[in-house]
Amino acid sequence: NVNVFKFIIPQIVKHSPNCIILVVSNPVDILTYVTWKLSGLPKHRVIGSGCNLDSARFRYLMAEKLGIHPASCHGWVLGEHGDSSVPVWSGVNVAGVSLQELNPGMGTDQDPENWKKVHKQVVESAYEVIKLKGYTNWAIGLSVADLLETILKNLSRVHPVSTMVKGMYGIENEVFLSLPCVLGYAGLTSVINQKLKDSEVNQLQNSATTLWTVQKDLKDL
Ligand SMILES: NC(=O)c1ccc[n+]([C@@H]2O[C@H](COP(=O)([O-])OP(=O)(O)OC[C@H]3O[C@@H](n4cnc5c(N)ncnc54)[C@H](O)[C@@H]3O)[C@@H](O)[C@H]2O)c1
Repeated sequence: NVNVFKFIIPQIVKHSPNCIILVVSNPVDILTYVTWKLSGLPKHRVIGSGCNLDSARFRYLMAEKLGIHPASCHGWVLGEHGDSSVPVWSGVNVAGVSLQELNPGMGTDQDPENWKKVHKQVVESAYEVIKLKGYTNWAIGLSVADLLETILKNLSRVHPVSTMVKGMYGIENEVFLSLPCVLGYAGLTSVINQKLKDSEVNQLQNSATTLWTVQKDLKDL
């Protein structure tokens, strides 16, 4: 995919120098970095679809568990898209009521409500859909349409998308991970600084290290 991008990205930027590029191809966090490097665009105009889909799946499954519409179920999945994504249990709420305050074991192995399973299902859902029909398309299509609506209508909604996180949460390398980001006409205009627990920060840092291990050997970017 890096080689495909080496062909595509310079052409896009040549013909549309003011574009915003939204990367969806996997591995999305790495390919967003590759796009940023190849395009020469400022970082706020290169965005990865990242955990927008993971978070939507999380809210859907949370809604099923609680019997409350997904639009009223708030929860963020951040970090690396896919297997090592980070569910931010401390932020999960309905109408501002923190579920973790009601159930302090939330997300742990001692959780009587087994919320960990919800995140496990998020991670496994793509594999499950691929097993059943060979590919995923509808959910990622809706997720991308959701992101584009925010950008094209300049809505300034906050989405968990992949952005350059060097300097945040103690991350020292140029890697892209999902954080809550404000999107609009100009691209990605700001990152919301969520207060994360030490264990959540550790997970982000581990993902950053893993991504950098792959990225540092990519040539000619
Ligand atoms: N970010 C997400 O949440 C998410 C979700 C679903 C899919 N994806 C990713 O989106 C990408 C596309 O998925 P898909 O299901 O549409 O795959 P697909 O196999 O249906 O489509 C891939 C397309 O790439 C083309 N292609 C392959 N090799 C090429 C090359 N060397 N040069 C030019 N074109 C080439 C193929 O002809 C095909 O049209 C994958 O990387 C997938 O992992 C991401």
